[in-house]
Amino acid sequence: MDGSIPPKTEKGTGAADAPFYLAQSDEREVFRAAADNNLPILLKGPTGCGKTRFVAHMAAQLERPLYTVACHDDLAASDLIGRYLLKGGETIWVDGPLTRAVREGAICYLDEVVEARKDVTVVLHPLTDDRRILPIDRTGEELEAAPGFMLVASYNPGYQSILKTLKPSTRQRFISVEFDFPAPDVEIRVVAAESGLPIDRVKPLVRLAGKLRDLKGQDLEEGVSTRLVVYAATLIAQGMNVDRAIRAAMIEPLTDDEDIKRGLLDLVAAVFG
Ligand SMILES: Nc1ncnc2c1ncn2[C@@H]1O[C@H](COP(=O)(O)OP(=O)(O)O)[C@@H](O)[C@H]1O
Ligand SMILES: [Mg+2]
Repeated sequence: MDGSIPPKTEKGTGAADAPFYLAQSDEREVFRAAADNNLPILLKGPTGCGKTRFVAHMAAQLERPLYTVACHDDLAASDLIGRYLLKGGETIWVDGPLTRAVREGAICYLDEVVEARKDVTVVLHPLTDDRRILPIDRTGEELEAAPGFMLVASYNPGYQSILKTLKPSTRQRFISVEFDFPAPDVEIRVVAAESGLPIDRVKPLVRLAGKLRDLKGQDLEEGVSTRLVVYAATLIAQGMNVDRAIRAAMIEPLTDDEDIKRGLLDLVAAVFG
């Protein structure tokens, strides 16, 4: 990464046009309480269950700018903090997304934080205790977080990897909220709202999703995400044949194993049969 790509930011646009988000439980109240008390928050849950949407929604509700960083295994502390760049023969310091959020009093959302390199967690520690400071070694600055700054991180505890877990010393610095796929009545409303497919046609898709999720740990590593159910419903709403849409959006993404696939298609036949 050369640092020249601007991070994805969304200005807090106010509650009125907050992205659509249907609560699973009391997560909005917990997030608000964390925000009011300067506490960092960790969102745990499987991929595609609504964590990122939730953060976008809350940032708009709280009218705070949001800096989202999708973490990956090459992401280093300097990608978050900033670096010196050469511009027209001059070396200038360019803030990274975390530094900007600290200066502006924004929300910084580290999506899939366990993916990031180890030096990233070290940077987060002084920001997550009551000092709320960000030391920038390269410039010698020590920034105090502006009011409104909030650190939000997410991770998927389902990926059982010894290398990729969050150390207790890091984890115990965050308020944690557990996410799961929404309960069927919530998921039906989410999928209908996102896809435009009528509720009655969404219901069997959500029922199928439930059955596919029951296979997690046996035939499937991960259950089908709400995101994929939304995709299936979107294809159907656009006129695609139901079987084809389900195969493309809810079966093929789950496995490459032909035997398992056949088993999953039997399940589809049973639900829609
Ligand atoms: N509770 C919810 N309210 C609104 N949309 C949701 C909800 N849960 C899931 N979605 C839908 O699922 C998609 C994937 O959610 P996302 O937030 O990207 O998942 P995650 O960050 O957990 O991987 C969203 O784009 C949205 O369409
Ligand atoms: Mg996400």
